[in-house]
Amino acid sequence: MRPAKSAPRVAVVGATGMVGRELVSLLERRRFPVGDLLPVSSGRGRSSVRFRGRDIPAAAPDPAALAACDVAFLVSSEEVARRFGPGLARRGVWVIDDSSEFRLDPGVPLVIPEVNASALGRDRRLIAGPNCTMTGLAVAGWPLHRAARVLRARVASYQAVSGAGRAALAEFFAQGRGLARALAFGRDGRAPVLRAPRARALPRAIAANVIPQVGSFDAAGCSGEESKVAAELRKVWGAPGLRVSVTAVRVPVVRGHALAAWLEFAQPLSPARARRLLGRAPGLDLLEAGDYPTPLDTAGRAPVRAGRVRSGVGSRELALWVVSDNLLKGAALNSVQIAELLLRRGWLRRRA
Ligand SMILES: NC(=O)c1ccc[n+]([C@@H]2O[C@H](COP(=O)([O-])OP(=O)(O)OC[C@H]3O[C@@H](n4cnc5c(N)ncnc54)[C@H](OP(=O)(O)O)[C@@H]3O)[C@@H](O)[C@H]2O)c1
Repeated sequence: MRPAKSAPRVAVVGATGMVGRELVSLLERRRFPVGDLLPVSSGRGRSSVRFRGRDIPAAAPDPAALAACDVAFLVSSEEVARRFGPGLARRGVWVIDDSSEFRLDPGVPLVIPEVNASALGRDRRLIAGPNCTMTGLAVAGWPLHRAARVLRARVASYQAVSGAGRAALAEFFAQGRGLARALAFGRDGRAPVLRAPRARALPRAIAANVIPQVGSFDAAGCSGEESKVAAELRKVWGAPGLRVSVTAVRVPVVRGHALAAWLEFAQPLSPARARRLLGRAPGLDLLEAGDYPTPLDTAGRAPVRAGRVRSGVGSRELALWVVSDNLLKGAALNSVQIAELLLRRGWLRRRA
């Protein structure tokens, strides 16, 4: 059954991008009550999105049309978020932004529903969604943090190319096609020494490679992604003293961010107890002992998935492996879940 025309008017700014297309599809599959859908793109070139069996043209942002919506998902860029986010929120539109622009703003809730839904407020209409790498760690580590308080988190991430947007993925596919031709043993049976193709969207070629740089480096040598994971985890967990050390690495995976985490606790926490806590955590699938998730078998799935829970150094450290779909729980799904919460609380409605 189609939602009535009294359902909210929904804008998706960046509807034609990697996250935007997932978001529009989720709105349909989760039966989010959409009265009217306004898909917004850069307006460069013709594009459309498919929604409820129809192709709806996407156009450049029209401020008046956006202000007439009840909720606007911003899945575009920091610049677009700056340009529209605060103004729309002031005009009464619920704005759920997936860029990093407002995540650390003290006046803006940074929300993962399974962790800190309480940060939402009736009058806090500008809401930020978190970094896609941090989300998996925040969801999987939260029940452990509540039980034994994480003092220190050390993390190595293995991040899919789709996390860098459509241009990076197109570059990966093009490099992969070239690579397929070069993948063969030499006549003497030696492994080939591959020539790195040119890279534009990412700092180095990504096909058959790994790149220990996600974002640009600061004066201390940390990449933008590494700083975001640390600062956002502190904010979402409400743990300002948490010490976080991250090495963020881009890997030749299409979708699904993986991470290895070593968590040091204030209290002892056994792997068996940690497994019990993780086994009943919302939004998390804990795999059987001995099994583990990978990006390929996690892509397209909603929950964060974890495995390989084991002791680290001493009784106060645990190691675990976490994978989540960066385009779903890492971005589009988390945003839709926030909007669903607003609906359930009766805060998001169609205005006159
Ligand atoms: N990819 C991820 O895993 C991920 C995870 C978490 C958060 N995010 C965040 O989500 C946002 C979108 O990322 P993405 O990976 O989906 O990027 P993307 O694939 O590059 O898509 C960008 C979208 O923004 C649109 N756009 C570009 N300039 C615009 C403008 N001036 N006005 C209106 N729309 C404009 C594009 O429209 P055209 O089609 O016309 O170019 C496209 O729809 C970013 O803020 C990113 O940081 C991404």
